[in-house]
Amino acid sequence: MNDEKTGILLLSHGSRLKEGEDVIKAYKEMYEEEYPDSIVEYGFMEIRKPGIPESINKLAKNNDLDKIIVVPVFIAHGLHTKRDIPKLLGIESDFEEDSHHHHHHHEHGHHHHHHHDHDEEEIEFNGEIVLTDPLGIDTRVYEIIKDRISQYK
Ligand code: NI
Repeated sequence: MNDEKTGILLLSHGSRLKEGEDVIKAYKEMYEEEYPDSIVEYGFMEIRKPGIPESINKLAKNNDLDKIIVVPVFIAHGLHTKRDIPKLLGIESDFEEDSHHHHHHHEHGHHHHHHHDHDEEEIEFNGEIVLTDPLGIDTRVYEIIKDRISQYK
């Protein structure tokens, strides 16, 4: 442990339906229950509020944080975790826009809900922001997949 005061932001994709919010909110509450002194919020990449800047500002306000750890609760890396989320957080990413431009454009063609959020506020936080990897390949996720299958087998 060090003396840094750290906040945590759990990020979900965002949907017009409320199920995604129910899930990310439940994980936030589970974390708070396990770590009662933690400062944790949830937010959404797009479509649903709070968006990324709003949730960063909500964490930063009144909490005097040195650092915010952002966890994309996504199964894998994709355009959002590699490009959009770093951009919204104002942090460096190793994503190269031009080299795969055509492919990305195609992928996004099926995803027209983007760029709705031009009313996003600016991030007002001068501390460090770190973005973790998504869930990725993990036997704990694999166990859930097997459970889902076994319900119907
Ligand atoms: Ni999307």
